[in-house]
Amino acid sequence: MPDAWLASYPGVREHEPLAPHSWYGIGGRARYFLELADDGRLGELIGRLTAEQHPYLVIGAATNTLFAADELSGLTIKIATRHLSMEGDTISASAGYLMPKLAAEAARAGRAGLEFAAGVPGTVGGSVFGNAGAFGGEVKDRLVQVAAIDPQGQHQTLTAKECAFAYRDSVFKAARPGWLVVSATFATTPETSQAVRARLLEVQKHRRATQPIEQRSLGSTFKNPPGDSAGRLIDASGLKGMRIGGAQVSPKHANFIVNLGEASADDVLALMAEMRNRVFERFGIELEPEIRVIGRTPAG
Ligand code: EPU
Repeated sequence: MPDAWLASYPGVREHEPLAPHSWYGIGGRARYFLELADDGRLGELIGRLTAEQHPYLVIGAATNTLFAADELSGLTIKIATRHLSMEGDTISASAGYLMPKLAAEAARAGRAGLEFAAGVPGTVGGSVFGNAGAFGGEVKDRLVQVAAIDPQGQHQTLTAKECAFAYRDSVFKAARPGWLVVSATFATTPETSQAVRARLLEVQKHRRATQPIEQRSLGSTFKNPPGDSAGRLIDASGLKGMRIGGAQVSPKHANFIVNLGEASADDVLALMAEMRNRVFERFGIELEPEIRVIGRTPAG
């Protein structure tokens, strides 16, 4: 059996339910699943998977990912590394480190520039992948370099320029399938802890006031089209509060789809299709998904 080594690889679980690993609480199963708190042997593992043509998917906190397959084939690797180090004015964090915690630790150490991360509910790896941003800041503004692993399992270092960041986009998302982020180094500026923390609290306050953070969602469902806002367009199409099954267009922010409890991936995808269709009919604008849909192409 060609998969035998994978099934017996330390820590690998079979037919793992993904809902508990999804911020949304939605998911089928993963044929093979591995959660890694230590990335020491990750290069070797990735190299072997590629050599043997085993598909693999790398996830972080899955705060931006909809698991839409009944059972994902191959190995799903959840990166749960939690290292942080500071040197001079730079801060390096492992891919599994949570962005709000990065913001808090930077503030505690009196280092400014990462306050926006308090409004990004995901991991460092996922945030580099999608050039995450919030409230006036995004990853690309402060990123110095990224340590990554390529599909052959080799360790690589990319400068910020090589990451080719653009709005909610990076070279990893656009042009490097199979690569994964191991850690990222950010530049910060010294400032009093108090001043940094005050701005961080502003970010949190603004987020609480404008986004349905008390409910489960994947954040912004669609990217903002150039010069406009997906939330405004969906709202103006009269869709706030619309429900399909357990999925609802948030009455608080129209670009968020909240899980009322029992939403399925089908409910979310059907609601996304409806939002895209209604906005297109009304404004002639095609919304592009921002969330990552795994195992199915988002309808539209
Ligand atoms: N608006 C409406 N109705 C709504 C929601 C928004 O009319 O239901 C209007 C607002 O009044 C505002 C405009 O749309 O004039 C923009 O809304 P908002 O300030 O809430 O920001 P956004 O463009 O919807 C972006 C990011 C968020 C980020 C916030 C805050 C995208 C797709 N979304 O949202 O990122 O937190 O700015 O900086 O770029 C995410 O990527 O998952 C995410 C949450």
